Amino acid sequence: MAEDLLISKGTKEEQYESLVPQIKVLLEGEPDLIANLANIAGALKEQFNWLWVGFYLVKPSFAKASEGEDDELVLGPFQGPVACTRIRKGRGVCGASWARAETLIVPDVEKFPGHIACSSLSRSEIVIPIIRNNKVLGVLDVDSIDLNHFDILDQKYLEQVVDLINF
Ligand code: SME
Repeated sequence: MAEDLLISKGTKEEQYESLVPQIKVLLEGEPDLIANLANIAGALKEQFNWLWVGFYLVKPSFAKASEGEDDELVLGPFQGPVACTRIRKGRGVCGASWARAETLIVPDVEKFPGHIACSSLSRSEIVIPIIRNNKVLGVLDVDSIDLNHFDILDQKYLEQVVDLINF
């Protein structure tokens, strides 16, 4: 397919309904994980223009295993301002989503204990874990400059997007 994305206007639901099938087509036949994650981040940024959208992947810890966890989240493909590169399990919204293996919607990041402020402009956030065979392999993280920006509609469709990833 041509790599142009059809940007939809309309309600949030209409925008996702138009975008998710396009993301599915973008990923079809491409086995490379980084390429696919990069295109997902690009497509979501282009459609919704959020402050930050991207992936953290569970990888072996940089520090010696004896100093703590064996694994940590490492920054993957994203769109938006530069971000922190490594997040320990349980830390911040991303680390909490990983530890709990569940989607977290944070209406006001200042009220989330331990929130990691990669950008001072971020006011609300949603994090979706990527789970395969009961293991969290990474997370999709989205930040907005608006308070209370994400809801269960975002959760529903972003979980669909994450399900499309061929890990
Ligand atoms: N705010 C996240 C850190 C990642 S950045 O937002 C890109 C957190 O608390 O886990």
